[in-house]
Amino acid sequence: MYQVYIRSFADDSGDGVGDIAGLRRRLPYLAELGVDAVWINPWYRSPMHDAGYDVADYRDIDPLFGTLDEAQDLIDAAHALGIRVILDLVPNHVSHEHPWFREALASPPGSPARDRFHFRSGDAVPNDWVSPFGGPAWTRTTNPDGTPGEWYLHLFTPEQPDLNWNNPEVRAEFLRTLRFWFDRGVDGFRIDVAHALHKAPGLPDLDGLPYPVPQPADGTPAPAHPFFDRDEVHAIYREWRALADSYDPPRVFVAEAWVNDPTRLARYVRPDELHGAFNFDFLLAPWKPDVLRAVIDRSLASHAAVGALPTWVLSNHDGVRHVSKLARPQTDTRVALLSQVRDDPADLALGERRARAAALLMFALPGGAYIYQGDELGLPEVEDLPDAALRDPIWERSGHAERGRDGCRVPLPWSGDRLPYGFSPEEASAPPWLPQPDDWAPRTAAAQDGDPDSMLELYRAALRLRRTLPADAPLTWLPAPDGVLHFSRGDALRCLVNLTGGDVAAPEGKVLLASGPLHDDGAVPPDTAVWAR
Ligand code: NOJ
Repeated sequence: MYQVYIRSFADDSGDGVGDIAGLRRRLPYLAELGVDAVWINPWYRSPMHDAGYDVADYRDIDPLFGTLDEAQDLIDAAHALGIRVILDLVPNHVSHEHPWFREALASPPGSPARDRFHFRSGDAVPNDWVSPFGGPAWTRTTNPDGTPGEWYLHLFTPEQPDLNWNNPEVRAEFLRTLRFWFDRGVDGFRIDVAHALHKAPGLPDLDGLPYPVPQPADGTPAPAHPFFDRDEVHAIYREWRALADSYDPPRVFVAEAWVNDPTRLARYVRPDELHGAFNFDFLLAPWKPDVLRAVIDRSLASHAAVGALPTWVLSNHDGVRHVSKLARPQTDTRVALLSQVRDDPADLALGERRARAAALLMFALPGGAYIYQGDELGLPEVEDLPDAALRDPIWERSGHAERGRDGCRVPLPWSGDRLPYGFSPEEASAPPWLPQPDDWAPRTAAAQDGDPDSMLELYRAALRLRRTLPADAPLTWLPAPDGVLHFSRGDALRCLVNLTGGDVAAPEGKVLLASGPLHDDGAVPPDTAVWAR
């Protein structure tokens, strides 16, 4: 599955923002890359306070990206190339410009319109919940006469009021939205913050309860968190699954659920719920053989217990690009945000070498693999965006303590040796919405096309071979020295990843693909992966 961060993928209109027409034109590139599906980040009508994760109309396209007709044409064109289309559903919150929230603000306390959200009265902030973006999770409204009004809950920005999922109208409305897109041929949805939809009755204080909630030493279940990973969310997904199964072919879902305990995550992919859930343990894992092996084992076991396969992902639009994480040999903790590594010296050649090996590791694992646009070009995080260019609300909400996620969202370089590297047409009226670095000429798709040593050709070759792998070929660990990950997938493939820091002997069999040059005797250098059969 290839993640299209649409505003940074390809700009056809020349306004510096990627659009549907740009994506449509690049579909052959994605077909050649060899992906089965695209997941398109939100393209709906939105005032863009959180890059489209603040939706004002779930059943229309934002004019920045195009029109509903263009969306239909894109869905059909993707299907003609054998590429499925997964959209991004944002059910936890809407935009403050959504008609429901406007109606709520115009309606009195206690009204049905306010019951679709979490409004609370009183002079004090209703509880101690804070937003992961920084600041309190509550904002106070102003009454028509200018006096302070009720508070409303927003786990993210104040422009993203949280919906009340106990309200039957909310449930019905999202079923309508699912049907709207399924009827247009959309193959499924990624579900934004799938673990946050239900809040504890009475909205109790956190009282310092951390998330994830630590497991008590006596083995009893961890207490429920008031707004993350509550059991009630699963009823929603069962209902959605029934709807998806009523289509031919059945539609699919993948959850963005930040749930650390793998057995809790597996609950989202039980047979009557969702089809997949992002494996953030894998995405966050440092480049350490014991950690990676433990994550792989845990993921496979917890999913097997519910009859599902895990997913694997190295980067997405919310965290530091993995080339730049892996470029920090001294960083051995879980890394999501730039502030965690920005001060550590980066060795980008090392990062790239490891990223190549990581890609072969990921594509050899059983389950779904997710590519974030630009992974296949080996793009690093852009760490030196000027303050004035930063657009992620996290920058302001954190009082400039955290630079946010813009560095992984910089528009793609397609071709040419000058900015904007083919992202926008020659006659564009505006520069790309985030500035690209001026040294990306060697990283463009055109520059890498046909170069056997490029990241792009490695991805293409790996995806071609992956197609020949039976999806159900089991993973079996093979004997290997400490620091080496070595496993087979039935008779189809043997994968060896060398994380020892020294050379190791080649795996048995014929080498099908290697992430970097091998020694003349076949020995595998450090930070290199080999596929053999
Ligand atoms: C997760 C999305 O991936 C992220 O980009 C967004 O800011 C939050 N959810 C809020 O919708």
